[in-house]
Amino acid sequence: MESLKHPLPPHAESTAVATPLALLEHLADGGFAEAEALLGNDAESLLLYRDGDTVRAWLNVCPHAGRRLDWAPGQFLKSRDGLLVCAAHGASFELQNGLCTAGPCRGESLRAVPVVVRDGAVFLAGE
Ligand code: FES
Repeated sequence: MESLKHPLPPHAESTAVATPLALLEHLADGGFAEAEALLGNDAESLLLYRDGDTVRAWLNVCPHAGRRLDWAPGQFLKSRDGLLVCAAHGASFELQNGLCTAGPCRGESLRAVPVVVRDGAVFLAGE
């Protein structure tokens, strides 16, 4: 086998195109979406929440009993006072920081996943 005369440059792996989690235009301001992402070696469901030009993300796992927060894929409940409500047993979470303020896991928090908005799309931070 012929050896490479010009080996790949050290940065070649970083030229792979990142896949967006969502397009910003598909997320209503104040609305939710669900996205699948590979975190480490595990495929995880994420909850995305748009707040103006920013998006926050958490694992779609409730700290109470480990259930998904949505009642159907991508369908999340929001209370009149602007809290995310777990579809399983009604725990309520602040959308600024993922803190549970009412319900069976009060005082616990959702697990944040760092994301960035770039060129109108949402990506895992670092991609
Ligand atoms: S699993 Fe969310 S409140 Fe019980």
